[in-house]
Amino acid sequence: MKDMTDTDYDGLAARIAALTEGETDEVALMATLACELHHSDARFDWTGFYRVVGPELLKIGPYQGGHGCLVIPFSRGVCGAAARTGEAQLVPDVDAFPGHIACASSTRSELVIPVFGAQGRLIGVLDIDSDQPDAFTQVDAAALAGILNDVFGKL
Ligand code: SME
Repeated sequence: MKDMTDTDYDGLAARIAALTEGETDEVALMATLACELHHSDARFDWTGFYRVVGPELLKIGPYQGGHGCLVIPFSRGVCGAAARTGEAQLVPDVDAFPGHIACASSTRSELVIPVFGAQGRLIGVLDIDSDQPDAFTQVDAAALAGILNDVFGKL
């Protein structure tokens, strides 16, 4: 079920651009985006980043919401699939996703988007969980990928 409120992605992008202007520190940028994204949309019940910390390995970064698991290999979970494939993972029903890692039993749907720096360097992934089933659309995925590219694409 999609949330009936259309997210104002243009306004969100403008706020994030203003909040992050001139900043190049990845952790500071992730902390700022996790906060702004999380509080921008009632569908977002967990919003955060997993960082590439070694070959085929993700570790938790800045996030908003309940505790997230600390380490995810590229071989596991929705986050691992996004990191492994370089493609956004739009999951309408997490129980139907093979190998989904449940950090909260309340999560029903999930959107995970790879975060790329300059020259296509994989920095990590943005993970958004919702307690609403089928909460996310391709519009969300494309708009958030654009915001991530604006912030991280030059790093
Ligand atoms: N659900 C994710 C794990 C991270 S927790 O949701 C914060 C996955 O399957 O990779």
